[in-house]
Amino acid sequence: MTPLVRNTTLMLSLALATAAGAAAQTPATPASTTTVSAAPTAVATAELVTKLGSCAECHEKETSTFLGSIHGMKGVACHDCHGGDPNEIVQEDSMSPSKGYVGRPGRADIPAFCAKCHADKKKMAPSGLPTNQYEQYRASFHGKKVLVEGDTTAAVCTDCHGTHDVLSSKDPRARTHRANVPATCDRCHGDDLKMNVYAIPTDQHKKWKTSFHGKAVTEKKDLTAAVCIDCHGKHDIANPEDPHSRVHHANVVKTCSRCHADEALMERHNLSARAPADYLEGVHGIALFKKGNTAAPVCVTCHGSHGALPPGVKNVAMVCGRCHTRSEEFYNRSMHRTVKGFRGCIECHGNHRIAQPGSTLFVSSCIRCHPDGSPANQAGKEIRESFDKASENLDLAARELEAARGYGFALTKLEEALKEGNQAKIEVVPALHTLDKREAEHFRTKSQETLERVRHGVQEIIFRVRLRSVSLGVVLLAFLGAILLFRLRLERLERSE
Ligand code: HEC
Ligand code: HEC
Ligand code: HEC
Ligand code: HEC
Ligand code: HEC
Ligand code: HEC
Ligand code: HEC
Ligand code: HEC
Ligand code: HEC
Ligand code: HEC
Ligand code: HEC
Repeated sequence: MTPLVRNTTLMLSLALATAAGAAAQTPATPASTTTVSAAPTAVATAELVTKLGSCAECHEKETSTFLGSIHGMKGVACHDCHGGDPNEIVQEDSMSPSKGYVGRPGRADIPAFCAKCHADKKKMAPSGLPTNQYEQYRASFHGKKVLVEGDTTAAVCTDCHGTHDVLSSKDPRARTHRANVPATCDRCHGDDLKMNVYAIPTDQHKKWKTSFHGKAVTEKKDLTAAVCIDCHGKHDIANPEDPHSRVHHANVVKTCSRCHADEALMERHNLSARAPADYLEGVHGIALFKKGNTAAPVCVTCHGSHGALPPGVKNVAMVCGRCHTRSEEFYNRSMHRTVKGFRGCIECHGNHRIAQPGSTLFVSSCIRCHPDGSPANQAGKEIRESFDKASENLDLAARELEAARGYGFALTKLEEALKEGNQAKIEVVPALHTLDKREAEHFRTKSQETLERVRHGVQEIIFRVRLRSVSLGVVLLAFLGAILLFRLRLERLERSE
């Protein structure tokens, strides 16, 4: 039927080129472990070339690449995408708009161009592929940039998948293969010239490579660790501030949990799968998810999103201290600061399941390292005793003040004294991190003063209340006496008249 099948030299050269074809444009670091899916045989290639018709005849370069692509291998032809007539050998006829030729799509038209098939359930049914890429892409940050704002610097389908060299992401040569994704994103996100306009950092790939995730993927060839799309998604990538984004503050825990709560996966890496659950049960998880306190840290606040944190031995105290500045300031004055191997805050508080601290922690956290009866253990107990005594004093003062309320006297001064006492408590808690007994002892003395001031004031009030009732009685008696006298007088007067 087509006269072009005669051209056996072309077919042969194409068949030879095919094996190398798609690889020519793939990123520099192909993963070597997996075997490549069926490369077409010479016979299959011949059939394909026949199908491509005149287009292949004139477009040898595109064709040689194309034959090795998933589209080429699955029998999609040039004219399925570009239109035109592969049976016409004259360029003007073959590439005629009257034959449906649409030519080369502009960047902004590419998503719809691919969606012609990929959003069509019927066309995609035999492959079993999902058909939601276009829909998701349109709502994504990239999609909105390109389709709504007309900013074609953002990614379109071909930037991530290629054009004539599209491969299934299972193929290790594919730009979208897990091992190659970071390089694919980096072609834009690592490009200062492209990203300058947006004033966003260009170091994600560089940092990722130094992270546990990056090292696992690049050095250990362990593809189960996180690459860009695990945290950002692929077709539905959103800006981190967007509440729908997987990396939005409120969604980070869920994003990390997909792997870090996976028992089997974590066990294979000698890691605990408890991190997310522990975090949710700790003060920070409760503060964020139960109390809506968005200042509470999530996984990436402490671990970094792309970089080489996790906080190791050296910088744990620094991570917590970023927010708990006062606790850190006083911790830095404690003897533990100079103890080798002491990992800072987490030795007493833990890292993920941080409990609401209280004075009992001066016993429960110390015993792990300082046995009962040791001087250090004793020091902890003494701090706790002083602190608890002081707290009791303040509670007592508060109760006595409360009881004095019914008398109708102004309590401003006493309320102020108690407020001062409570303020001293708020201030001393971080200071206790010095583990200097004198801090707690000083606080106890102060609370004793507060209690005495309040007590004294309340007693004064009670005295005045009594005084008042006594004087009121006297006035009343005098008044009654006056009335009595008056009546007696009146009676006497009446009688004398
Ligand atoms: C007789 C040779 C010939 C045939 C047959 C032919 N082309 Fe072309 N085509 C060309 C040449 C030459 C150019 C580049 C110059 C131009 O744009 O006119 C070109 C350009 C193109 C372009 C790029 C247009 C652009 O705007 O950059 C596309 C896409 C294309 N051809 C697709 C096809 C398809 C699909 C077929 C088969 C239906 C086909 N061609 C058949 C010779 C041919
Ligand atoms: C899956 C759809 C698809 C198929 C199939 C396809 N192309 Fe293309 N082609 C494109 C897209 C998209 C572009 C635009 C690329 C760009 O601008 O980045 C393009 C661009 C071109 C161009 C312009 C120059 C270039 O390389 O960018 C030519 C020529 C071309 N195609 C020819 C062909 C030929 C010949 C075939 C068959 C062997 C073919 N195409 C098969 C999607 C396809
Ligand atoms: C003419 C219809 C058609 C058009 C247009 C088209 N594709 Fe495809 N695409 C297919 C078919 C058919 C397959 C093979 C499905 C299968 O059987 O595995 C495929 C497979 C793919 C795959 C591999 C999926 C996988 O993991 O197996 C990707 C990726 C892909 N296409 C991307 C694109 C991109 C990007 C464009 C636009 C440049 C595009 N396609 C345009 C028909 C099309
Ligand atoms: C063709 C270039 C290109 C490619 C490839 C690309 N992006 Fe983008 N991306 C952009 C541009 C341009 C923006 C818009 C930046 C802006 O407006 O802040 C953007 C925005 C983003 C944003 C939102 C950033 C923000 O804070 O505004 C994320 C996240 C993102 N891309 C992730 C990715 C990931 C992950 C990949 C790879 C799977 C990828 N991108 C591939 C060009 C690209
Ligand atoms: C920012 C990069 C990026 C853009 C833009 C992009 N894709 Fe993808 N796409 C990927 C990655 C990465 C995968 C493979 C992910 C995986 O391994 O799960 C993928 C997978 C696919 C698949 C395989 C089936 C699936 O959904 O997993 C198809 C088909 C596909 N993309 C089509 C498209 C089409 C059509 C467009 C444009 C509307 C597009 N992609 C835009 C990165 C992108
Ligand atoms: C372990 C999860 C994770 C991985 C893997 C990851 N990211 Fe991110 N990414 C985040 C989080 C969380 C944020 C938002 C917080 C921030 O800005 O650090 C973010 C932010 C971004 C931003 C926006 C930066 C800004 O300041 O607006 C871009 C762009 C980005 N990532 C690209 C990438 C690229 C490219 C890769 C792969 C090389 C990648 N990310 C891998 C979690 C991840
Ligand atoms: C796709 C799965 C996946 C996702 C999503 C993921 N991780 Fe990981 N992560 C891993 C694997 C696997 C390892 C082990 C790597 C190794 O062997 O070194 C790891 C290692 C780590 C480590 C190093 C642990 C250590 O001490 O060895 C930290 C910290 C970490 N991930 C934090 C995070 C955070 C925070 C997030 C979310 C923003 C996240 N991960 C998302 C799979 C994932
Ligand atoms: C308040 C800071 C903080 C938050 C929030 C946090 N981590 Fe950690 N995480 C740490 C510290 C500190 C360590 C190191 C402990 C050590 O050195 O032994 C650590 C260790 C780890 C480890 C490696 C050791 C282990 O326990 O298996 C993983 C994995 C990890 N975190 C994942 C996560 C994930 C996932 C989240 C979110 C659910 C998260 N972390 C939230 C501070 C934090
Ligand atoms: C991003 C800031 C931030 C980081 C980093 C951080 N925290 Fe917090 N932390 C908070 C917030 C916010 C609260 C909630 C306070 C509340 O409930 O009102 C909190 C609560 C606490 C509490 C309970 C205090 C109380 O009085 O209720 C403790 C203890 C604590 N964090 C210890 C730590 C430790 C240990 C680390 C390091 C492993 C750490 N935090 C890292 C912000 C942070
Ligand atoms: C030696 C054990 C120990 C270490 C190390 C330690 N803490 Fe504490 N921390 C405590 C105890 C005990 C309390 C409870 C004090 C109380 O309520 O009486 C406490 C209380 C706190 C509170 C609650 C303070 C408040 O104002 O209510 C925060 C926040 C805190 N610690 C953060 C940190 C940070 C950050 C570090 C590291 C810089 C750290 N801690 C190191 C034992 C420790
Ligand atoms: C992770 C282990 C660890 C924890 C938990 C810990 N310490 Fe220590 N502490 C040490 C080490 C190690 C030293 C230095 C060696 C020594 O003197 O025992 C030290 C030294 C001290 C010292 C000075 C030396 C001494 O014996 O008088 C005091 C006081 C002290 N710790 C009090 C505490 C108190 C109070 C707590 C609980 C709030 C606590 N420590 C929790 C490990 C720990």
